[in-house]
Amino acid sequence: MPSEGYEEYLEGIYEIFGRDFVDAGIVSSQIKNGLKSRGITESIIRRVAVITFEAEVNIISYAHQGTISYYVLPDSIIIEAIDVGPGINDIELALQEGYSTADETIREMGFGAGMGLANIKKSSDSFEMSSVPGEGTRVKSTIWLKGKQQGEDVT
Ligand SMILES: Nc1ncnc2c1ncn2[C@@H]1O[C@H](COP(=O)(O)OP(=O)(O)OP(=O)(O)O)[C@@H](O)[C@H]1O
Ligand SMILES: [Mg+2]
Repeated sequence: MPSEGYEEYLEGIYEIFGRDFVDAGIVSSQIKNGLKSRGITESIIRRVAVITFEAEVNIISYAHQGTISYYVLPDSIIIEAIDVGPGINDIELALQEGYSTADETIREMGFGAGMGLANIKKSSDSFEMSSVPGEGTRVKSTIWLKGKQQGEDVT
């Protein structure tokens, strides 16, 4: 289900495969480079990088396959991660810092602290998440480009 209403602002869409840990980080750096070439502020890029990296690692860790898309609108950036996978039964619980179902393989790769979704939420000005158990998960983050917003780097 691609996002409706802002298709014309789509800058990139990247496919990610479950268990493909060797490629972890590639999509988030490609998005980072895309935003740099668009002249987006460094502090905004840093927040987008946190969101895309954590979403990317979650798809690799838990889903079968998925996509991360990003949109550059006149006053916001939207990141959308959609996957086909087991989904999440209890989203509130999954968002809690420290909650993780990461297995040995994921932990060996250095992930599984249970911080990814919480950090995605913190780095977003607006955050939406939905999931259908047995089908998949969707995470949508918005970052405002103008004005001082929640979570914005003030240094
Ligand atoms: N795309 C997803 N599909 C299915 N389950 C997910 C997905 N993303 C997260 N989860 C579930 O939510 C839990 C919490 O995710 P979160 O990203 O916050 O932490 P983590 O991946 O366990 O560890 P960290 O992100 O700190 O390396 C995961 O352990 C997993 O059970
Ligand atoms: Mg994670």
